Amino acid sequence: MTTDIHFNKQDFGADFSWGVATAAYQIEGAVDVDGRGPCVWDKFAMIKGKIKNGDDARTACDFYNRFESDIELVHALGFKEFRFSISWSRILPKGYGEVNEAGILFYNKLIDKCLSLDIVPWITLYHWDLPQALEDLGGWKNRKILEWFESYATICANAFGDRVKKWIVLNEPMAVAGLGYTTGLHAPGRKSISNFLPVVHHLAMCQAIGGEVIRRNVADAYIGTAISCSYVHPASASFRDVRAAKRADALMNRLFIEPALGMGYPADAFRFLGNIKRYMQPGDAERLKFDFDFIGIQNYFSVVVKHSYFAPVVWLKEVPAKLRNVPVTAMGWEVSSDGMYHILKQFDAYDGIREIIVSENGAAFHDQVEGENVHDPERKSFYQEYLAAILKAKNEGVKVKGYLAWTMMDNFEWAEGYAARFGLVHVDFKTQKRTVKDSGKWFASFLKM
Ligand code: FCB
Repeated sequence: MTTDIHFNKQDFGADFSWGVATAAYQIEGAVDVDGRGPCVWDKFAMIKGKIKNGDDARTACDFYNRFESDIELVHALGFKEFRFSISWSRILPKGYGEVNEAGILFYNKLIDKCLSLDIVPWITLYHWDLPQALEDLGGWKNRKILEWFESYATICANAFGDRVKKWIVLNEPMAVAGLGYTTGLHAPGRKSISNFLPVVHHLAMCQAIGGEVIRRNVADAYIGTAISCSYVHPASASFRDVRAAKRADALMNRLFIEPALGMGYPADAFRFLGNIKRYMQPGDAERLKFDFDFIGIQNYFSVVVKHSYFAPVVWLKEVPAKLRNVPVTAMGWEVSSDGMYHILKQFDAYDGIREIIVSENGAAFHDQVEGENVHDPERKSFYQEYLAAILKAKNEGVKVKGYLAWTMMDNFEWAEGYAARFGLVHVDFKTQKRTVKDSGKWFASFLKM
């Protein structure tokens, strides 16, 4: 890994946004105070064996109570943008209907704290924490979610849109459909291939509906949605592996962007996706389109895939990074800044994409606290390599306008619990003590230049 860097902040341009990204469920805690209703992760985390070490997010980073000092820390690190998500069940404990004013008040205080320090707030409307009350009615599988989501988005736009201009509608919808409803590794833990297509379609519809709602209700909004993406390599040049790689690319990279751009679902590369028509109603193809101001791309690793006779429907499997003799993070994800470069190019090649924000990127490593320090040279190198790749793409004309590091501080990493640490700031979950890691200090000096 490189340690010398040959670029500085100015190389990205004066109008490039630098920030950190977070998500409500991963940091807030306070899951049952001030009228918040339960969400799918609250229930899922209580099921034995679902979360590593039996962890849960009842306290997480206690951000609900510590947001002021945490935002001061973001400011001290030199970041000018802060991305957070709204907990739907804090605003609407039952998912729809009566608004919980205490929830609105919390986010108002958070937004005002950001603004008081000249930090630009970015709202993600949906980062995986569906109200349990809606899951009980079928969740993302029920088409009614189009109305539930529209009304939730309207409430948020009207409550926060006077001060918040940067909006992300959905965070990684593919994870919701794939992990939440098909493999069951994430909440709500539903496990059936028959869930996949209806859930995908309802998410893709809500992606556009959320965009429309914000456009209608928030003056001067900058609207995007955040898509997980990984550059896909075939394991060999064989016809079968190349076709498997195309299917993986359709699933991992094309599935949510193409309907938004008016291109429909990528059934050309993966015929199974053509069955999604069964869940579409007249007018849907049109409603799937939304002219986003930016697309948030979230890239951590690239993947190598091969054909497999043992994986029905997809007929492919991933060749794990650890078998490929490449550097990996504590998640087992390949460190591949080249993958970032290629995926930026791939997205930039779509005609309809106006701008790109790297709305998440970062790495987990096994950190050790030594007194007041956390020396994390691997994470620092990771950021430096990926930023160099982004700059390279930018210099070649890719319309990338901002970078939000994942993440400000260690937090509840979904099914990994507290075992996977992605923060620039270390959190001791027993005492809630924050310790800035070397990678955080590096960012602070980089951003000061
Ligand atoms: C992304 C999620 C985010 C976090 C990082 C590591 O897929 O959006 O919440 O879990 O991965």
